[in-house]
Amino acid sequence: MDAKTIILIISGGIAAVKIPELIRRLRDQGRSVIPVMTKAAHEFVTPLSVSALAEHRVYTDLFDLTDEAEMGHIELSRSADIVLVAPGTANLVAKMAHGFADDLASTLLLATDTPVIIAPSMNVRMWEHPTTCRNLAQLRADGVRVIGPNKGVMACGEFGYGRMAEVTEILGAVDGFFKVGPLQGKHALVTSGPTHEPIDPVRYIANRSSGAQGTAIAAALRDLGARVSFVTGPADVASPSGVEIHRVQTAVEMLQAVRSILPVDVAVCAAAVADWRMASAHDQKMKKTTSGPLPNLEFAENPDILADLSKGVHRPRLVVGFAAETEYVIKNATAKRLRKGCDWIVANDVSSDTGVMGGQKNTVTLIDDNGAEAWDEMPKEGVAKRLALRIAQDLK
Ligand code: C5P
Repeated sequence: MDAKTIILIISGGIAAVKIPELIRRLRDQGRSVIPVMTKAAHEFVTPLSVSALAEHRVYTDLFDLTDEAEMGHIELSRSADIVLVAPGTANLVAKMAHGFADDLASTLLLATDTPVIIAPSMNVRMWEHPTTCRNLAQLRADGVRVIGPNKGVMACGEFGYGRMAEVTEILGAVDGFFKVGPLQGKHALVTSGPTHEPIDPVRYIANRSSGAQGTAIAAALRDLGARVSFVTGPADVASPSGVEIHRVQTAVEMLQAVRSILPVDVAVCAAAVADWRMASAHDQKMKKTTSGPLPNLEFAENPDILADLSKGVHRPRLVVGFAAETEYVIKNATAKRLRKGCDWIVANDVSSDTGVMGGQKNTVTLIDDNGAEAWDEMPKEGVAKRLALRIAQDLK
């Protein structure tokens, strides 16, 4: 692995306590780390421990640089291969989204022309606040790669999304960034998992998709060097590391997430999106009555994300759909390719006796302009690798 230089910006959140371990692991990999700390970060981790592990002095103030005639803040901002922000507080996210430059960290981020990866970390309410959502969407649109946050218990005792991505996940993102492969420089979008369509606050419509095939495809594209945006419904399997994860529940949310990620070079729609949602979900839990009529569920059609992508103004160069069928697999999938307007369809038989849904293996047929090509049964990772190589060939 080539040694690469990383400017590591540490802002003032409790997750800063994990940063010495991150620095140690980066150094073990032979990476050079230039640490920059905000003032607030000093409350959580000492500059002494950071500089000792990084084997590099810590910068905090713009004035730290004035005594180094050879490197000002502009030059410093461009001296690394990437800028990694971990943890990224709500405050720093807001400053980045709006271009504030009132300390060294935010000034570097405004002045840099190198790619930026951020691992946000904050209280769940702050993460879910519409302002933060807007700011994050802005950063993504500006090309910043966002890793995490994860769901879990927070230092403040609350539970939800906001925990900084684990050190191994951040390392995965950095590795993924430097990976040399045929898809380097390409941006891939993968949808995965089922969607959950609420009936009322406690019930929902779902399907048996585990997310295993979509997860394997995202990992395979990442391994070939692609930047991967991974939009996942509530899946059973863990999301892959080193990809940008967008978690959604419903088809409508999945469509919004997908649109916010475009443009991309390739989109692979492996999600088992519910075709219908409730025409109007109940605000309160529906009650069982002893004598009244049984509930009458009225459905509305969900947006077709694959068709939307294939026919939209930001159509990716290559759009790949999946067809989960239980009968007339090839005939139905061939018709689906034309109806949806995608380039390829990966067709599979998901009848219950095949064990595909929720299972480890898959037998697929790839359908493109040239017809149908049947692949032997193989693990879902095998299907993913072969598909990723095929994608790399096509995008060459
Ligand atoms: O129409 P059907 O659900 O069988 O199509 C399957 C393909 O379309 C899959 O690639 C799936 O991810 C995608 N799809 C979608 N949006 C929907 C339904 C399916 O993107 N609402």
